[in-house]
Amino acid sequence: MNANEGTPPEGSTACGGTLFGEDGASPPGVAPELRSVLHDGAPVSPDAIASRFEADGFCFPIPVISETDAAINLNRVIRAEKGGEDRRRLLRSKAHLAYRFIDRLARTPAILDCVERILGPDLLLWGSTCFVKAPGSSSYVSWHQDLNYWGLNSTEEVSAWLALSASTEANGCMRFVPGSHLRGPIAHRDSFEEDNLLSRGQELEVSVDEEETVSVVLAPGEMSLHHGRLFHASGMNRGNDWRVGLALRYITPSTRQVVGVRDFAQLVRGEDRFGHFEEMPRPESDDDYAAMQRFEYVDGVTGSIFFATDPPYRPDDLDDPCDDEDWVEPDMPERGG
Ligand code: NI
Repeated sequence: MNANEGTPPEGSTACGGTLFGEDGASPPGVAPELRSVLHDGAPVSPDAIASRFEADGFCFPIPVISETDAAINLNRVIRAEKGGEDRRRLLRSKAHLAYRFIDRLARTPAILDCVERILGPDLLLWGSTCFVKAPGSSSYVSWHQDLNYWGLNSTEEVSAWLALSASTEANGCMRFVPGSHLRGPIAHRDSFEEDNLLSRGQELEVSVDEEETVSVVLAPGEMSLHHGRLFHASGMNRGNDWRVGLALRYITPSTRQVVGVRDFAQLVRGEDRFGHFEEMPRPESDDDYAAMQRFEYVDGVTGSIFFATDPPYRPDDLDDPCDDEDWVEPDMPERGG
């Protein structure tokens, strides 16, 4: 091996560009030679996280909590899931405002250490959602990109998907399309299919070649990281056990909410020098009635963001609307109305 081969020097990137470059000049997709070739299930080394994330739009598996801690938290999710609609709905969207165990999981140092390698030292927790598939469940997630419906003006966002149960091809693990995050925002259509776990049943208007996909097989306690523009989906649970993952959405403090009038995020590491998001008190237990009331309030304020965009909202078209004199605050339709 000659001196020019091997890992790039410190500070450079596998793509030679910026971490979140979507300047419109990039060709669709990414040249195969720029993609990471390692999807063999070997744990990702911390030093490889940023470069693999940039090249592929994801990296996994990364062990972050013990199998025992995963099992304890799996039971908490299943208990909430079986606890009636009032408890179940608190597992969606910003579950860390309602449940102490989710607030704590979202602050796991090993998770934040990895996210920091991509987003830098200042981190806000913007969202947390449990994706729950009961044994034999027909629930699935259609092919989509995350950022198109969240009203955020930046791609400085990372989803950490923490497996609380095993996540396998048989029980409906996620699948990714390597390099698809470099294609920029893609139009989606809404299906509102009953079994689709997404809020609008949204799906990409472009077809996905299943041959190109990677199955995100995770053991309990391992996580994957994925970019907000990565094409991803997941299938039904054909197994006999619950498949549960907790998706934690981290953003940088400079990010803005540009569709909703107000939005909420928790500072989980470093410093917030911008104040674009409101912070809420942390739940004191998993039965904290005041925290659940706060969740309902926040959900009422922010819930309509997901439904406020018709035709589908394109964050890149609205880069900084607050600076535009002609910008008019969008109407906020009632959720599910
Ligand atoms: Ni998603």
